[in-house]
Amino acid sequence: MSVAVIVVAAGSGLRLGAAAPKAYVEVGGRSILEWAVRAMSAHVAVTEIVIVTPQPQLEQTAAADWASGCAVVAGGVERHDSVRAGLSALSPNAHHVLVHDAARPFVPSEVLERVIDALLAGAPAVIPALAVTDTVKRVQLRGSATVVSETLPRQDLVAVQTPQGFTRAALESAHRTRSQSVTDDASLIEQAGGEVVVVLGSPDSFKITTPHDLVLAEALSRRLSPRPSR
Ligand code: C5P
Repeated sequence: MSVAVIVVAAGSGLRLGAAAPKAYVEVGGRSILEWAVRAMSAHVAVTEIVIVTPQPQLEQTAAADWASGCAVVAGGVERHDSVRAGLSALSPNAHHVLVHDAARPFVPSEVLERVIDALLAGAPAVIPALAVTDTVKRVQLRGSATVVSETLPRQDLVAVQTPQGFTRAALESAHRTRSQSVTDDASLIEQAGGEVVVVLGSPDSFKITTPHDLVLAEALSRRLSPRPSR
């Protein structure tokens, strides 16, 4: 069975405060995107990778040696626009699709394997997730103060990562009928009443969002692979 991966890298990453779009920031001698694409090609079932980039980075990405064999397309304004652009570039052979945030460059192969195994075992939608360790509260503004309105039961909560896996039919249908903005693809399956299976994620799959995350990413890149010479 073959699995296609869409790596979405078309965000600007404003919270990182870097000069380049987030996926093009270097960590341990490689761009965040290169790490992510290399991680996604680690499973034998992955036969196809579509990289979704900002329009200005399209050509440089398509010309990169680590992207050879990948399709490269330009993304859209919102993340879901970028996923749709990736979907439209899939080959007809792709019956299972993983959607991965380039901003998570260090997904361990075991996580990729857990997602793909559950998908190929018949789940229409699969997400990797970790138990929440902080206490999570809902807050609201009262006048100029932020106050707590509710404490959520931690035992019912997980923090969700990518790659998220889907049958192509389920993902395409979910994107066709999307009615509101969402921050992940599984939410669209949930909105349509579909079941989403949860498998164990990894702390290494954290999302790079702030400059603090870059410090962690540098440290992790040294553990995973020696700094490549360029
Ligand atoms: O902004 P955030 O880090 O949550 O974005 C998650 C992923 O979605 C990132 O890898 C980012 O590049 C991607 N994205 C995209 N197109 C957008 C917005 C975000 O491909 N318009």
